[in-house]
Amino acid sequence: MSLVIFSKVHKIKPWIDALKKEAPDIEVMAYDKVEDNSKVLFALAWNHPRGIFKDYPNLKCVSSMGAGVDHIMFDPDIPEQVRIARIVDPLLSQDLAEFALSQIMNHLRGITHYKLLQQDSTWKKSMYLRISEVNVGIMGTGMIGNHVATFLSSCGFSVAGWGKNPGKPADYPRYHGTDQLDDFLQKTSILICLLPLTPDTKGILNKETLEKLPRGAFVINLGRGGHVVDDDLMEALNNGHLSGASLDVFEQEPLPADHPFWKHPKIQITPHVASLTTAASVAPQIIENYRRAIGNQPLLNLVNREQGY
Ligand code: GLV
Repeated sequence: MSLVIFSKVHKIKPWIDALKKEAPDIEVMAYDKVEDNSKVLFALAWNHPRGIFKDYPNLKCVSSMGAGVDHIMFDPDIPEQVRIARIVDPLLSQDLAEFALSQIMNHLRGITHYKLLQQDSTWKKSMYLRISEVNVGIMGTGMIGNHVATFLSSCGFSVAGWGKNPGKPADYPRYHGTDQLDDFLQKTSILICLLPLTPDTKGILNKETLEKLPRGAFVINLGRGGHVVDDDLMEALNNGHLSGASLDVFEQEPLPADHPFWKHPKIQITPHVASLTTAASVAPQIIENYRRAIGNQPLLNLVNREQGY
């Protein structure tokens, strides 16, 4: 009766320790330590080896180790009966909100620009933008996008959201569906992408959509690298349509050393650190879902396999 961790990216020990602390009665191990596949009931996964889950005949649930499930959903070999869950952690939403604020303020006050001038000991002042002078548009109005929107509104930003569906009523304007995307983009001077990556949202930040943003707009991608068409973003930066971009996520991670994003003066790169899951913070909901999965109870934060998130 085991809970097994399938990740080559995470340090496994802190996860095993946090899960065992929460539930000393449950056997927890890394997938390369499993001797009998039939005992594996629950998988905790991040970038698992593709196709592996069909080798565990009694697997009931695959839970992501983070908020995103694209790395699980893009595996076509997950048996039908296996339910998929994700992490919903208020800490992660707040971390993303704080990171978004840091990138917006960096942009408004030109901090990256001054860092470049510093390299040549250049003292040269430029006027800055104020919070009251920009409109933030958030793509993705689920739990995380909504939290970021509410947080940025509380900091004085004018915020709007866009999502696939109308969603719940909110205190800020919400646009939805492809029909309202242009209108949303045209009113957005700072775009924050927090969408889930699905076949529908892949490449959504492309030449056509980026051109709809007003000249001088700034793009912050905290969703997935696959949301951006890299060449189209580079072109919009190079032709001056966009003033800059802050990218935390990339199609290929780590970002390859020869990728042109690294050296681009208008791109701020961070290594997928806008929010980092803390094992101790999410262990209680993973253990709760383990117990629900083996008891055939409804899961917390169940993923809709049709929708892909
Ligand atoms: C991070 O990218 C996550 O999905 O939690």
